[in-house]
Amino acid sequence: MAGSQAGRRPTTDRTPPSVTLTGGVVADSPLLLEPDVDAVAVPLAPAGDGDEGPQPRRGAASTAARYGIDLADLAERAGLTGAAGEQHVAQLPRPAGSGITLPWTGLPPRIVLIGVGRSTDTDLRRAGAALARASRGLRRVVTTIGDDAGQSAEQSARAARALVEGYLLAAYVPPSLAAKPPAKPAADLVLLGRDGTRVAAAVAAARTAAAATWLVRDLASTPSSTKNPQWLAEQARSLAGRSGLDVTVRTPRELTAAGFGGILAVGAGSASPPRLVTVTYTPETFAAGARGGTGRHVVLVGKGITYDTGGLSIKPREAMVPMKTDMTGAAVVLAAVLAAAEAGALHKVTAVLPLAENHFGAASYRPGDVLTMYGGTTVEIANTDAEGRLVLADALAWADAELEPDVLIDVATLTGAATLGLGKQHAALYGTDPALVAALRRAGDESGELAWPMPLVDEYDEAVHSTVADLRHVPTDKKIGGGSITAALFLRRFVGNRAWAHLDIAGPARSTADKHEVTEGATGFGARLLLRYLTDLV
Ligand code: BES
Ligand code: MN
Ligand code: ZN
Repeated sequence: MAGSQAGRRPTTDRTPPSVTLTGGVVADSPLLLEPDVDAVAVPLAPAGDGDEGPQPRRGAASTAARYGIDLADLAERAGLTGAAGEQHVAQLPRPAGSGITLPWTGLPPRIVLIGVGRSTDTDLRRAGAALARASRGLRRVVTTIGDDAGQSAEQSARAARALVEGYLLAAYVPPSLAAKPPAKPAADLVLLGRDGTRVAAAVAAARTAAAATWLVRDLASTPSSTKNPQWLAEQARSLAGRSGLDVTVRTPRELTAAGFGGILAVGAGSASPPRLVTVTYTPETFAAGARGGTGRHVVLVGKGITYDTGGLSIKPREAMVPMKTDMTGAAVVLAAVLAAAEAGALHKVTAVLPLAENHFGAASYRPGDVLTMYGGTTVEIANTDAEGRLVLADALAWADAELEPDVLIDVATLTGAATLGLGKQHAALYGTDPALVAALRRAGDESGELAWPMPLVDEYDEAVHSTVADLRHVPTDKKIGGGSITAALFLRRFVGNRAWAHLDIAGPARSTADKHEVTEGATGFGARLLLRYLTDLV
């Protein structure tokens, strides 16, 4: 074993912590004698009927025995209840002189108690997140959390996945060089008492999902002084190239030739011209053109506004501040296709990223203009701040016309109204196909990125009626309300007869505080939901 500094990552290193598996039990594991293991973390569950206080769970009894410490009493005196996400770090004292031996001499000098609640997936993600926060600045942490008596191999793998996903998500370190003080990296994690291929595959899946979220957070928190459409297109090109995926980047000249009137109009006021990026993953099992097989083509479209000033319909000062994250949808679909490839998904996936900066300038589009969108539909503009639906409409119409999707899903920080209606924990979910909506909702529940079904109210369709063009992109009559719904009704006009779903993520895309697996700022919401959908799709 190398010296005690071995394995310590520099504070500027942003690689996610490693997660390893090992058999054995706390009672006699030699791991606890290794010098860079800084803590042992054990699970704590709430008191059940007849219990006096919160209950240390599996691994705790043998930890208590090895350390000679009453953990139930420690938990109670620390005021813990065992609720998921609770944490307490007991710093064990060192002896005052060399002649004194404490029961834990030679063992890791910290015991971390982590609440696991009822050990549901959600609870274990929260437990993992709590452990990551408790382990920042430590080197290696050994834990029995997620290991339970009488678990099947499947349950054990599932628990490990939730725990590790929560751990890696909360271990996120923002890229900002200006972060003061720089966030300390979370410790490398060792899951004790579990090995075997099933758990290893679950840990790998958790890593893929968490890495996708890290990527979205990184891209969304990049300032727009760096992040213009060309920069984002180059990021997509290099990431996709590294993964061996096909990438196409369309320039304004090509967009003009093909008639992408929405993307071009939105991007016209900016000094940084728009792009349209496609990234395609084709699994080997997918027979091109053969529709008889089980492989489907899922097309994901993501709103990629690299900054949203509102355009000539300029935003108020406060509302503009967070708008560097208005390309979250594009980052989500990019991360999802990369992760689907890494996970070996069985379906063909194409991510479509319409990228533009919604600025104002001499060439800006104006309220009252009429645009001709891809495919020829004309749209009367009423408010240049409703730019997202215009870039999406072009991309959706093009995907419908050119990509032969079996499923078409768009993701967008589209409306403040979605946030007003559902708050910041749920995405608003719309769709033309009940099975697709149900599958996305299930993927949300499974991944912990929740989506709530919303109605496409036919009676509100007058919101998109115009007297001077085929469509109007925002309603005149404010009394219709339902701003997230009317945006979805506009998008529906561009998806032909496809099975289509729309996720309005304006609420959950950002957070004002760290909470469980969510981190402050850009949350990366959506990548894990889509990845679940793609890997669960049969
Ligand atoms: N990017 C915004 C939506 C948004 C608002 C995202 C708050 C995240 C937080 C979008 O482009 C926008 O400006 N929408 C307008 C639509 C309106 C003009 C019809 C809105 O929601 O106010
Ligand atoms: Mn806007
Ligand atoms: Zn916007």
